[in-house]
Amino acid sequence: MRAWIGLPLVLLAQGPPYPLPPLPETRPELVELGTALFHARELSLDRSLACSSCHQPEYGFADTLALSIGVNGQRTLRNTPTILNRAFGASFSWDGRVPTLEEQVLRPITDAREMGLDHATMLERLRTESAWAGAFERAGAPVTTDGVASALSAFVRRQWIADAPVDRFRRGEVESLTNDERAGLWVYESSGGCWRCHAGPNFSDEAFHNTGIGVRDGVVEPGRAAVTGDPADRGAFKTPTLRGVALTAPYMHDGSLATLEDVIEHYRRGGVANERLDPRMRQVRLGPEDTRLLVAFLNALSRPAEPK
Ligand code: HEC
Ligand code: HEC
Repeated sequence: MRAWIGLPLVLLAQGPPYPLPPLPETRPELVELGTALFHARELSLDRSLACSSCHQPEYGFADTLALSIGVNGQRTLRNTPTILNRAFGASFSWDGRVPTLEEQVLRPITDAREMGLDHATMLERLRTESAWAGAFERAGAPVTTDGVASALSAFVRRQWIADAPVDRFRRGEVESLTNDERAGLWVYESSGGCWRCHAGPNFSDEAFHNTGIGVRDGVVEPGRAAVTGDPADRGAFKTPTLRGVALTAPYMHDGSLATLEDVIEHYRRGGVANERLDPRMRQVRLGPEDTRLLVAFLNALSRPAEPK
């Protein structure tokens, strides 16, 4: 798994192929600045954390904890999601409360549970310390919150998995997937019903569903309802992409499921019963052999294709 570091950057050279939508052109210098900022501990109050402390490249830009640890040892409220293929996201955070990537990348900096640094101090550090001024100038970005947001989001937009075995399979290169992986894709697209929510080239419908995660003693977390105010959205969370998913354990918005097998067991049981459970959860039908096949397929979503 570790040998996988930096793969998305390798794919950058090829550009995201069909069927992913094209991305805006970005100057390489802006991506370079974004890369440096993503790894910069100066963006946290006590200089202990960078974005990459929680979004670790070797773990598919997530980490290995159910809840991550921010400055002063505080726990984040939710599991750290991947940033892979978020260029194609329609909204951000587990409940979708953040409308744009530019807004999302600034939030952890001021969040007291994450990096805990006010923007004025951040800009002061970037204006006065080491080589930052030159890097901003080369990137053509002002040393402002907007400049930081545009560079960080340019970096995030360049982290994707696109030319994976499943994409080649869908282009007709049948041998890209093994027999088990193909059988797993079949379960995914038929009796498993996974495609009903993990749809399209990024394996997410970018919508919100209640699968019963986070239900305790029948009590449902607000989830999406905290954003929309609509009680029908209680307990609903954004469908995460499944690109790179083998690398990002533990799973779900609260990190409560340790392995892909545990996730599939959750679906096999039809989720956790509650008054707002998404009706699609009842359409999942999994037999005894299906877990193994689905896991094989999910692993294939996280495996680079053979170089050509
Ligand atoms: C302390 C750990 C931590 C740090 C540091 C951190 N993040 Fe996150 N990140 C999270 C968590 C947790 C979430 C989910 C927040 C939520 O849903 O409430 C998240 C969400 C995101 C998302 C949205 C993903 C999605 O699918 O909606 C992006 C993009 C992101 N972070 C980028 C960054 C950037 C850029 C930085 C650095 C400026 C950063 N993060 C620093 C933990 C962290
Ligand atoms: C009703 C819509 C729906 C269906 C059907 C569905 N999922 Fe999900 N999936 C979600 C949502 C929403 C989440 C996040 C739930 C949460 O954390 O509250 C999720 C989370 C996951 C995760 C965890 C990803 C991560 O980064 O934490 C995996 C893996 C997954 N689903 C695989 C599957 C598989 C395999 C199937 C078919 C057996 C399936 N899903 C069926 C909506 C769905």
